[in-house]
Amino acid sequence: MQIFLDTAILDEVKKGAETGLVDGCTTNPTLAAKAGRNYNDVLKEICSIVKGPVSAETVSLDADGMVKEGIAFSKIAKNIVIKVPMTVEGMKACQRLTKQGIKVNVTLIFSANQALLAAKSGAFFVSPFVGRLDDIGKIGMDVVREIKQVYGNYKFKTQILVASVRNPIHVLDAAKIGADIATMPYSVFEQLFMHTLTDAGIKKFLEDWEKVPKKR
Ligand code: G3P
Repeated sequence: MQIFLDTAILDEVKKGAETGLVDGCTTNPTLAAKAGRNYNDVLKEICSIVKGPVSAETVSLDADGMVKEGIAFSKIAKNIVIKVPMTVEGMKACQRLTKQGIKVNVTLIFSANQALLAAKSGAFFVSPFVGRLDDIGKIGMDVVREIKQVYGNYKFKTQILVASVRNPIHVLDAAKIGADIATMPYSVFEQLFMHTLTDAGIKKFLEDWEKVPKKR
């Protein structure tokens, strides 16, 4: 499974990239606001650090506006992917951008039917928001499982990008289901490395190493 960082904070992108384990990056207007810098500048810098796909989100509500924004974003770097929302206008924009060879990530997906429409519209990525479904008492991962089944039935090439990931269990569940990608906050990425037994093991090995006779 590929790992993307869901952030527009450059320090996090740099630290993530240095591990050699980050395959791409996703951003949205909320994350751009948190970064507090010009969105285009941030995207350009992320694309210079991360060689894999970097998602940039449009904010227009009509297809014409989304296509215009998408074309402008796509000029920033070759690895930019355009995020459009799961709406009728979003699907029109997805089809138009895809026809122009621009990759699209359909975002704000909360059902397998929505994912079906996105795939039929030629989406490169579809982003089910698991955490937000959990927030309203639904099981977000059930939707991911359903999308996986539907896409398998029809051999859709659209990749399932699990989003709104809040914890390592979301990452594990996404991997168990066979999702293509999980995008996560840097804090969740860091948690994936950690285990108290690993820390305790290192401590014990270092203590025991001190007891090993050393040559003078
Ligand atoms: O990838 C989408 C993500 O940024 C939304 O996450 O935690 O705001 O639901 P969250």
